[in-house]
Amino acid sequence: MISKKMSDALNTHMNLELYSAHLYLSMSSSANTMGLKGAANWFTVQYREEMTHFFKFYTYLVDQGENIALLASKAVPNKYKSLLDMLEQTLKHEQLITKCINELSEQAVQEKDHATQIFLQWFVTEQIEEENNDRDLIAKLKLVGDNGHGILMIDGEMGQRVFTPAPGTPVMI
Ligand code: FEO
Repeated sequence: MISKKMSDALNTHMNLELYSAHLYLSMSSSANTMGLKGAANWFTVQYREEMTHFFKFYTYLVDQGENIALLASKAVPNKYKSLLDMLEQTLKHEQLITKCINELSEQAVQEKDHATQIFLQWFVTEQIEEENNDRDLIAKLKLVGDNGHGILMIDGEMGQRVFTPAPGTPVMI
């Protein structure tokens, strides 16, 4: 059993993971319009990963006997200046998610809610990887600048990314 306050906070965050999925699907489409098929793949994989994050929160709340609430999702941007712009916005968004996960963890500690603390641990670790991946790509893109050949090399690298579902989530997303 979890408190109403904890359940509401987790439910709010679950909806933010869904927003993240929409954001990256939009970026995938924008990358495609720029001719960057590899980056489009990378963002589609990111979309699918966010759907598994959403589903992890959904399953946790349902397993705790909660009735989840799917909230109205605000529209996501779909205009970007460049791949670098997309990745800088991705990092900024992931830093927001990290802050939210940390606040949820702090609340779980304050409430002595051990189950939720354990549940959130996976996300605490995941956020380190997410931010690190974004920083790596941003650094590479800054190195190549406007060099088209360099951007295409990075695009090729982004095309290699493969979807790996988060533990405990369905593969079909
Ligand atoms: Fe679900 Fe990108 O954090």
